[in-house]
Amino acid sequence: MLSPDPDGISAGMTPGFANHIVTEAVSGAVPLGRNSPQKTPFGLYAEQLSGTAFTAPRADNRRSWLYRLRPTAQHGAYRPYPGARHFASAPFSDLPPSPNRLRWDPLPIPAEPTDFIDGIITYCGNGDVAAVVGFAVHLYACNRSMDARAFFNADGEMLIVPQQGALRIITELGRFEVAPQQIALIPRGVRFQVTPLDGVARGYICENYGALFRLPELGPIGANGLANARDFETPAAWFEDVDAPFELIQKFQGHFWATRLPHSPFDVVGWHGNLAPCRYDLRRFNTINTVSYDHPDPSIFTVLTSPSDTPGVANCDFVIFPPRWMVAEDTFRPPWFHRNVMSEFMGLVTGAYDAKAGGFAPGGASLHNQMASHGPDRSSYENAIAASLAPHKIEATMAFMFEGRLPFRPTRFAAEADFAQRDYDACWSGFAKARLPVQGDNM
Ligand SMILES: [Fe+2]
Repeated sequence: MLSPDPDGISAGMTPGFANHIVTEAVSGAVPLGRNSPQKTPFGLYAEQLSGTAFTAPRADNRRSWLYRLRPTAQHGAYRPYPGARHFASAPFSDLPPSPNRLRWDPLPIPAEPTDFIDGIITYCGNGDVAAVVGFAVHLYACNRSMDARAFFNADGEMLIVPQQGALRIITELGRFEVAPQQIALIPRGVRFQVTPLDGVARGYICENYGALFRLPELGPIGANGLANARDFETPAAWFEDVDAPFELIQKFQGHFWATRLPHSPFDVVGWHGNLAPCRYDLRRFNTINTVSYDHPDPSIFTVLTSPSDTPGVANCDFVIFPPRWMVAEDTFRPPWFHRNVMSEFMGLVTGAYDAKAGGFAPGGASLHNQMASHGPDRSSYENAIAASLAPHKIEATMAFMFEGRLPFRPTRFAAEADFAQRDYDACWSGFAKARLPVQGDNM
């Protein structure tokens, strides 16, 4: 089940999550034995990119050293960028936070030529970009390349979950392709450019303002399982020596700015370190589930977690619901009814989600905020309590959840969009009342 890579653009990717690696597009570009020698190889400019504080504990410390044709400091003033009109940052205070359960039909593909950055639509978010806490949830829908434009996000790292159409992502640290059922993780500050390879593309983004995503602890599961570190892939150094106008757009504290460069920003000839973009194929997830009874808490499906400052309580968990065998005995097998102190945003890459028989389509989304009652819809419930409990495989599906400790506030645009469903509550209507024994029968 290797990742598709027909062009070979992803060749030479290095396995492992947040490993320290050294990669050179030109042999000898990375100096040996020191980061910043007086004279660098070929006169390249040495530049450190820090993803954590210099003083972060060693186990958490993330940084890379880049060796490039020009220093990134060489640029003119940024001026306000008028695009990306629906790409917003928390806190969203234009609407009172709603306790209602919300669901959306698939995000429409734009009719006008729209690139990845201008095609980002913010649905909701929590925390505060200025406090470096929480995250925002966006969908993107685009139908053209970014051409001579690059983007970087000073506000957070971006976890991209394609739903329709493959993407070519060129970054300062290398290039790769990512398709539905894979994810890409772009660190804060890294310049990148996206091209939809199939004409149109749509997907989801978690913009994480908080601590960097990492692999979750495994506890009693042991040394292996869930997302295995070796299945993450980091691109090899790649650069282009292009002296032509380029527009560089950045998001800073929720606002967009642009400057003009006389060259491509993708001019890193070699780099070393442990802060870099990566790709992961969700089909490689080692899914752990019960082999006796009861559906475990969905945290058992966590791919990546952004911790908060409270142990065990995530700023954001990225959780998937992949194909899996259901074998539990004497058990209601779909996710159960519940109310949660954490808040849950769900999306669907492909197939169907086992707790929703209808209304939740690939490219759609749902939001169940803190303490919102939710669970299987009525038809999923009725099917599940009548089902034969023979071993059964849920095939060809990939749902996911961004789950956070802070309640989400939807944007006005998402709440009032014509693709927002107005009748979501109805999927839980009509449950028959439980029948107690007639009084006196059990006296
Ligand atoms: Fe839930």
